[in-house]
Amino acid sequence: MRLYVNIDHVATVRQARRTDEPDPVRAAVLVEQAGAHGITVHLREDRRHIQDRDLRLLAETVRTCLNLEVSAEPAMVAIAEEFAPLQVTLVPERREEVTTEGGLDLASSNEGRLREAVASLSQKGVRVSLFVDPDRRSLDRSQALGAQAVELHTGEYANARGDHRVAQWERLRAAASHGVALGLSVHAGHGLTYENVTPVAAIPEIEEVNIGHSIISRAVFVGLERAVAEMLHLVQDASARMGEPPSWRAPLGF
Ligand code: PXP
Repeated sequence: MRLYVNIDHVATVRQARRTDEPDPVRAAVLVEQAGAHGITVHLREDRRHIQDRDLRLLAETVRTCLNLEVSAEPAMVAIAEEFAPLQVTLVPERREEVTTEGGLDLASSNEGRLREAVASLSQKGVRVSLFVDPDRRSLDRSQALGAQAVELHTGEYANARGDHRVAQWERLRAAASHGVALGLSVHAGHGLTYENVTPVAAIPEIEEVNIGHSIISRAVFVGLERAVAEMLHLVQDASARMGEPPSWRAPLGF
């Protein structure tokens, strides 16, 4: 099982101030050092978190696998091709949504655009994955479109409770097994957390999970105590030295 970490929300925090921290490129290095198998970013058409600059630097610096999520809009596919990451996951996108709300619409009206995107990216040597709802029809269509992989949308499983969650897990398991029978690599993601990931990671046909929000959220709490202690040290040390000429150099390590 590979863990790909989605670092979009590091950029979300930075964009809240339009400043230069926290830098998702720096986050990617730490994520890789911690042992993750890949870095996922979603370059949205409205650029609400990840920016083109981030993608350019990540394409140069990620040493594991960069998985770029984009919509199948020709302009977005062209950007993906320019950087030719190892993997591109095509996702649906609506400007008004808070986050990706469902799998790709694989209806025939959309098929031409998707087929073109898959063919064109594959020609560049990119592994193309389609983010789909966990049902047989979506998997059959994904294979017919020439995708190498699918990412099963785990959002409904994540939102379900009790028996309904078990039913959603069965749905994921059946879809994963159908995907592998079709020769597709099967990934999963969206809404996975420390609380709900275990049964999904136990499905043998799933080879990769993409997790973002929950990991970045937990990072705030496992890191907050140290962050406060470091700031406390700086301000108390400075006030203890009151009267001395101030040092204008930033302390090392920050
Ligand atoms: N997979 C896809 C296709 C996504 O769009 C997202 C969210 O950007 C994720 C996985 C990660 O979801 P979460 O942030 O809920 O872990």
